[in-house]
Amino acid sequence: MKHKHSGSEKDIPHQSDNKVEDEKSFHVRDIDLYLHDVEGIGPTTTKKLKEAGITSVIDLAVASIDQLAVDINCSKDSAALFIMAAQKLLRESNVLEKEFVTADFVLEKRNSMLRCSTGSKSLDELLLGGIETQAVTEFYGEFGSGKSQICHTLCAMASRPLSEKGLDGGVIYIDTEGTFRPERLQEIATSRGFVPLEVLKNTVVCKVYNSSHLELIIKDLGGYLNKFKAKLVVIDSIISLHRAEFSGRGTLADRQQRLNSILHKLVRVAEIFNVAIVITNQVLSSPDTFFGDPTKAAGGNVIGHTSTYRIYLRKSGENRIAKMIDSPYHPYSDTRFTVNEKGIDDLEDSTNRAKELEGGSD
Ligand code: GTP
Ligand code: MG
Repeated sequence: MKHKHSGSEKDIPHQSDNKVEDEKSFHVRDIDLYLHDVEGIGPTTTKKLKEAGITSVIDLAVASIDQLAVDINCSKDSAALFIMAAQKLLRESNVLEKEFVTADFVLEKRNSMLRCSTGSKSLDELLLGGIETQAVTEFYGEFGSGKSQICHTLCAMASRPLSEKGLDGGVIYIDTEGTFRPERLQEIATSRGFVPLEVLKNTVVCKVYNSSHLELIIKDLGGYLNKFKAKLVVIDSIISLHRAEFSGRGTLADRQQRLNSILHKLVRVAEIFNVAIVITNQVLSSPDTFFGDPTKAAGGNVIGHTSTYRIYLRKSGENRIAKMIDSPYHPYSDTRFTVNEKGIDDLEDSTNRAKELEGGSD
């Protein structure tokens, strides 16, 4: 089915009662937006975009200029114009914030932010209530520090209603290391008194095999979020594939650029869709420690500067310590948690302390 560029009818987003088969629509408040609704995008560009895997307005709005120029074989100027036009259409449809907005509008948007419990009261306290939507939260630490366990527990928690500190939504679990375990999720759900099958059905898992595959999945993330009604995206881990594939020094710049593009896209998607994005990251170990600090997260400044929150995890005997390393407003404190049949959990004494705090006696 061919679509005609709707030209000057641009100001009113396309009210779609005609079903378009080969193009994903982005559904916003009873309005369906299509690529051909974007100013300057005609049938030829629409076709090229779709061939490049950009199938909705939101995909185009969050694309990177350099990548788009390569993907559809156009100049960077044209790519920038297409992206800006897509963002303009989303803004006019109240999906994207206007460039300059009053602070009360910003507050209103912040108020639509949701928090998802991690399953541990003490870790929730560190995060001032849990993992936030509209943000990318990074957990980094050495092997066995609890990153994947946090991810599994979050899958169970996100399925809960808002009244139980969940997100009342689906979870997209992007597994780059092959460490997702449905049995573990089942155990966590059962131990917490949730219906295991409901939790399992609420989590869609995507096993990713190489860095290009990961980039492709992230490029289409907006569409998947709509499809699976997801409120949480987990990427465990964000860097392992790129780290393995771009190992020599000569390829470092390329790797960093690719990671940069992934991270920026994740931040935009988190904001636009009001979803929580959780990524895990490794720490540098001796062979490729560029800066000499073994507790430094991998990925350099690219990941550090882009994640909204970074939490450093380390082992302390049987327990784990989580430390807030980077945040616009959280105190830079630390806390302890443990790993057991409930996934991640509080230590005995901290549970009591959390109960005391809830009861108002500090
Ligand atoms: P890498 O992915 O290797 O970098 O480590 P990670 O930080 O993801 O570690 P992960 O979260 O997988 O494991 C942390 C710790 O949790 C392990 O060292 C185990 O002690 C514990 N753990 C892992 N799986 C289970 C499980 O099924 N049950 C229980 N009770 N503990 C587990
Ligand atoms: Mg892991």
